[in-house]
Amino acid sequence: MSLTSPMPAPMPAPTGGPAPVSPGAIPLNRPQLSDSLFTKFAALIYELSGMRFEPNKAYFIASKLDIRVQALGLKNFEAYLSYLESPAGRAEYGFLVDEITINETFFFRHEPQLQAFRDEVLMPMVFARRAQRQMRFRILSAAASTGDELYTIALMLKDMGLTGKDMTFELIGTDICHDALNKARAGVYRKYNIRNVPPGLLQQNFDHTPGAGGGTETWTIKPDVKAMYRFQEGNLMDATRLSTLGKFDIIFCRNVLIYFDEASKEKVVRNLTGILVDDGYVLLGHSENVYSQRHILRPDKTHTNAIAYTKAPPGTPKFNV
Ligand SMILES: C[S@@+](CC[C@H](N)C(=O)[O-])C[C@H]1O[C@@H](n2cnc3c(N)ncnc32)[C@H](O)[C@@H]1O
Repeated sequence: MSLTSPMPAPMPAPTGGPAPVSPGAIPLNRPQLSDSLFTKFAALIYELSGMRFEPNKAYFIASKLDIRVQALGLKNFEAYLSYLESPAGRAEYGFLVDEITINETFFFRHEPQLQAFRDEVLMPMVFARRAQRQMRFRILSAAASTGDELYTIALMLKDMGLTGKDMTFELIGTDICHDALNKARAGVYRKYNIRNVPPGLLQQNFDHTPGAGGGTETWTIKPDVKAMYRFQEGNLMDATRLSTLGKFDIIFCRNVLIYFDEASKEKVVRNLTGILVDDGYVLLGHSENVYSQRHILRPDKTHTNAIAYTKAPPGTPKFNV
C-alpha cells in the first residue's frame, strides 16, 4: 500500500519543550481500546509504516487514536476504524501516522558517533572523492523527524570549512510524518532541541528570539544553512519512492529501527542499501542492531564509534541466526 495523505499543511510550531509521551506511558482518563480493536489498528499502522506495536502499548495507541476521534467528531474507536476502512478514510492515513509517530530528536544527539562520523567516515570519503574528481557528496537523514539531525550535519560541514568550496554537498531529510517535516522546514527550535549545540555554532547559525512577554524563546536556523538542505516525505518501507531520491554516499537512519520488527527491518535495510553507493555507509543509532540482516548490511568493525555499516558483498546468503 502506498501512503497517500492529502494533509493540509499545518502551521509549523517550534519544536521541543517537554519530551513526547513515551509509548509506555499511561495517560490519565485513558480511553479504552478492546483487544480486538487494538489488533486491527495495530495491523493498519504496521501496514502503513512498518512500526510494530505490541499489546502492552495499547494505552499509548488509544490516547493517540482518541486525538483523531475527537478531531473528526466521531463517537468512538469503532467509528474511527470504519472511517479508516471506507474509501474516504484513505485521506486520514497521514493524520493517523502523524499522531502515532514518535518524533523525539535533538541537535548533536550522540557526540561520540558524530565525532567518528566526521573524522573516520566523512573525511576519508571526501578525500577519496576529490582524488576521483567526484565533486558531489550526498547525505540522507532517513527518518529526519524535525530536522535536528540533518541540521547538525549541515552545521558540522560548515564548521569544518567543507561548504562553499570545490565540493557540492547535498543534504536531504525524509520522514513519514508530515507534521515533523513542516517543523523541519520552518527550522524554529526551542531550548530543549538546541541544548547541545556548541555556543559558537549557536551564535553563528541561529537567530535568537527571546521569549518576551511570556512568549516562547526560540532559535531559528539561518537562511545560509537552510540553503544546504531539503526535506521531503519518504516512507522507509516504500522502495519505489525512496529510489526517486537517487544514490547517497552516507545515510543516517537513527532511532527508528527500534520501532520495527525483523520483517520491517529487513525491508528497510534492503531499501536503504538500494540507494547507497557501493562504498557508502549507513549510520544507525547506538541501541539498534541489524544482526539478522547482516547478509545485506554489515557492521564496519574499524569505525565502531560511528556505528557505521557497509553493504555486504552481493550474493551473501542469509545467516540462520
Ligand atoms: C525518534 S525519531 C528519530 C529522529 C532522528 N533520526 C534522531 O535520531 O534523532 C523517529 C522518526 O522516524 C519516523 N518514522 C517512523 N516510521 C517511519 C517510516 N516508515 N518511514 C520514515 N520515517 C519513519 C518518525 O516519524 C520519527 O520522526
